[in-house]
Amino acid sequence: MVINDISPRYSALIDKLKHSDKKRVLFICLGNICRSPAAEALMQEVVDEHQSGAHWTVDSAGLGDWHVGDQPDPRMRAHARQRDLQLNHVCRQIRESDFDDFDLIIGMDASNISRLNDLAPTVEAKDKIMPMAEFFGDYSRFDHVPDPYYDGAQGFETVLDILTDATRNLYDTISDR
Ligand code: 4NP
Repeated sequence: MVINDISPRYSALIDKLKHSDKKRVLFICLGNICRSPAAEALMQEVVDEHQSGAHWTVDSAGLGDWHVGDQPDPRMRAHARQRDLQLNHVCRQIRESDFDDFDLIIGMDASNISRLNDLAPTVEAKDKIMPMAEFFGDYSRFDHVPDPYYDGAQGFETVLDILTDATRNLYDTISDR
């Protein structure tokens, strides 16, 4: 679904993305082993379904460095596998060049957004940062993607439900010419 009530502060960014032939999207969370690699895989799945791979680059990274080089969390991989979703990402930490290499940098919660704003080297870089919650449709009762790391199985299921909704809405919203 196209999200029509995105906060006005992101209008210019959304408009620019809509009219870009190449959309480079980076998903960010704290550890880069649960939420953002799942968002990356779900986004890539939507892009592939639409055979739009030539127009999209999708990646993820973490704010912390604790898990660099690791595969996604085994619990997240198991829950994704139950939905026929393979998580192939290798954990990496965000780097300054990401603010040049990507057009849209999406944080999963308010803390991620605040850290991203601190890291952004320029005003132009700050203007690329958006919360994932702006793309919630069916899950608009949530205002962020909850960190499942210290949660049980239901936490991982909820994250996958929210991210499935948000990645599809992101695709529809910025592909709409
Ligand atoms: P994520 O979850 O940010 O969704 O990848 C976390 C993973 C690891 C940690 C925290 C959150 N950690 O503290 O190691």
